[in-house]
Amino acid sequence: MAEIFKDLDPDTMVRSPGVTYQDLLDQDTHEVPAVLRLQSPKDLGFDDFSKERYISREYHEKEVKNLWMKVWQMACREEEIPDPGDHLRYDIAGVSFVVVRQLDGGIKAFPNACLHRGRMLKEFDGHASELRCAFHGFGWELNGCLKDVPARWDFPQIKDEEWSLPEIPTATWAGFVFINPDQDCEPFEPFIKDLSDQFERWDLGSLYVQAHVARKMPCNWKIAQEAFCEAYHVNGTHPQILRSLGDVNSQVDVWDNCARVITPGGTSSPLLEYDMNDEDILRAMMDIPVGGEVPTIPPGMNARGFLAAISREGLRADAGERVDEYCDAEIVDSIDYTQWPNFHPWGAFNKIVYRFRPNGDDHRTSIMECYQLMPFQGERPPAAPIHWLGDDEKWSSALGFLGRVFDQDVFNMPKVQWGLESTYKKGFTLSGYQESKVRWLHHKLTEWVGE
Ligand code: FES
Ligand SMILES: [Fe+2]
Repeated sequence: MAEIFKDLDPDTMVRSPGVTYQDLLDQDTHEVPAVLRLQSPKDLGFDDFSKERYISREYHEKEVKNLWMKVWQMACREEEIPDPGDHLRYDIAGVSFVVVRQLDGGIKAFPNACLHRGRMLKEFDGHASELRCAFHGFGWELNGCLKDVPARWDFPQIKDEEWSLPEIPTATWAGFVFINPDQDCEPFEPFIKDLSDQFERWDLGSLYVQAHVARKMPCNWKIAQEAFCEAYHVNGTHPQILRSLGDVNSQVDVWDNCARVITPGGTSSPLLEYDMNDEDILRAMMDIPVGGEVPTIPPGMNARGFLAAISREGLRADAGERVDEYCDAEIVDSIDYTQWPNFHPWGAFNKIVYRFRPNGDDHRTSIMECYQLMPFQGERPPAAPIHWLGDDEKWSSALGFLGRVFDQDVFNMPKVQWGLESTYKKGFTLSGYQESKVRWLHHKLTEWVGE
């Protein structure tokens, strides 16, 4: 744990007046799991960070060298390469890797480059019995061993045992495949431990990819990522959801390699200047127009509990009887985890996973992806193929309600980039608690990349 991360006492720390997230959990109709009772607020200081992190080419180049070429990163879902010979191209910051399902069911990854004169081996995801270069025809087995050199007599210098494709470390967690471009990297287990401890109850490996949507974003990858790392912006950017979202009641927890923001649903924002009762919250959450009939909440239940009960029944067909074990909070709240540096699985029943990365070697654009994972009964359905949105296409064209919220976030992004390019202010400023996940990301960035 970095020196700068100092524990705060959850009972005495400064945060929004009024009800806390833990107070809301006390009203849950079901037993609340221990993972939601954890609190790990941190004092991460109040200093500004340099805007160069978003706008400087030099900083980007340091990031590529010290972060992207060194860190464990999610490359794909296991189910995207289910059968031996299935392969997937994973690109990061202008460098390409190929991830290959092996004959024994394992997974290997290699730099996506032929050892002859360097041509990329696999341009597309697909299925193959070998890794064959399209330029002069050198071939490798799926496990990276040299298989074939056309006109072999002309290469007396090639020794088979020295001509295997160089393998890079791979690991799997909860159905995700991670790779590390650094052959001497730290082991995966300690890297993922904070996150995996907390997801024991929420087995993302048991879900399938129902949708996978990607889009180029007009800003540095961190601007895109950080738009999803705090609920403080809801008031300014998504005012339409304040009636049923406890934005400033969010709980923020920071560990070493992961952090989370939990934002309660089915409760109204304390920032609203008028009172909301449970019926008003239901009307907002269920999008019931004025004059429309609002369902009656059973006595002793609040809006959160009632909304959870409805959703629980909606989930039962796919998730089965285990929905009865899920508490209200696990169904109605946004439990947004971040694993350093760019992997964002939501906890509990909100089966959303984001990933952010630079767009090729360009530090002023990025790629944002959203996986939607769903439970299933019986045989695992095939993973949905990636769907790329065009530059002018909206997230709402692919992801409905969630997409409409994303579109509001995206609207800000190029303006944040422009503003940071234009400002005379050297740094950017973060709040102490509500934006502490963003601050944690920047402390991690300092640790890996530098100031
Ligand atoms: S570059 Fe691959 S076979 Fe020549
Ligand atoms: Fe947002």
